[in-house]
Amino acid sequence: MEYQKILDQIQEELNYRDVFGKVASYIPELAKVDPKKFGMYLYSTDAQNSSFGDSSEKFSIQSISKVFTLTMAMQILGEDLWDRVDVEPSGDPFNSLTQLEHEKGIPRNPFINSGALVICDILVSNLKDPKAELLEFVRKITGNPEIDYDYTVAASEKSTGYRNYALVNYMKALGNIKNDVEPIVDFYFHQCSLAMSCEELAKAFMLYANRGKLLETGERIISKTKNKRINALMQTCGFYDEAGEFSFEVGLPGKSGVGGGIVAIHPGQYSVAVWSPLLNPKGNSELGMAALERFTTLTGYSIF
Ligand code: DON
Repeated sequence: MEYQKILDQIQEELNYRDVFGKVASYIPELAKVDPKKFGMYLYSTDAQNSSFGDSSEKFSIQSISKVFTLTMAMQILGEDLWDRVDVEPSGDPFNSLTQLEHEKGIPRNPFINSGALVICDILVSNLKDPKAELLEFVRKITGNPEIDYDYTVAASEKSTGYRNYALVNYMKALGNIKNDVEPIVDFYFHQCSLAMSCEELAKAFMLYANRGKLLETGERIISKTKNKRINALMQTCGFYDEAGEFSFEVGLPGKSGVGGGIVAIHPGQYSVAVWSPLLNPKGNSELGMAALERFTTLTGYSIF
């Protein structure tokens, strides 16, 4: 497959001027990002690298980080994790409070904010220094020891993070949060602030495309079963109340973030990351989704 040709065609066909989306502004620091940014990077299991545009520029990965923290929590708790968080699509916005009341504080899945905050609670309970251990994990799977948090973005989100504070407080009232609120949201705001490029994200997510092993060394990081489950959750819950649409248009497991990044994988084939900060009303990158739709259409392959 001539991936570079396909990526070149996508870059030619798509333009930020044609989309209606808006840069996230509820995190003040993210509102400063240049809306024209557009990049894509594909890393295939036969070691082809293809890219265009701003694919090596770092951006705020936001909710994409939830895949990394879920992986760590699954390693620690095993099956017991599913007593604390469910595995169903939410059909509600990523920061919704309403479902929690009906469902007694058990979040629908680990990728909506409430679910990711329960995962943070678990990591705060079980790790000495969760922020350092998350960095260690991401650096290892990316092969880049320089990946770091963007402390300005983390502080910016904390300054307006009322909904996330509300979610943790509410779940604490319902018995599904064990630690104090502050260390949980502090860890959460930092994980969301991780700064990575499309190239680094595609490298990191090769783990999930390569059935739980690092491509370069063959080292197993997660079991095949856990890897299957993480990919299944990305397929059904990775795009919140737009998970059906992403499956319908693109047909790959993936994860989005309000920094405008999307990563998707084709098991055994490749991982691909795209970045455009203009978000649609569901909080997913409008141009990013269009680029991935073009990608699976032009290659003629998805997982379906
Ligand atoms: O908690 C928040 O609202 C953000 N830190 C992350 C949300 C997010 O990325 C949703 N994804 N599309």
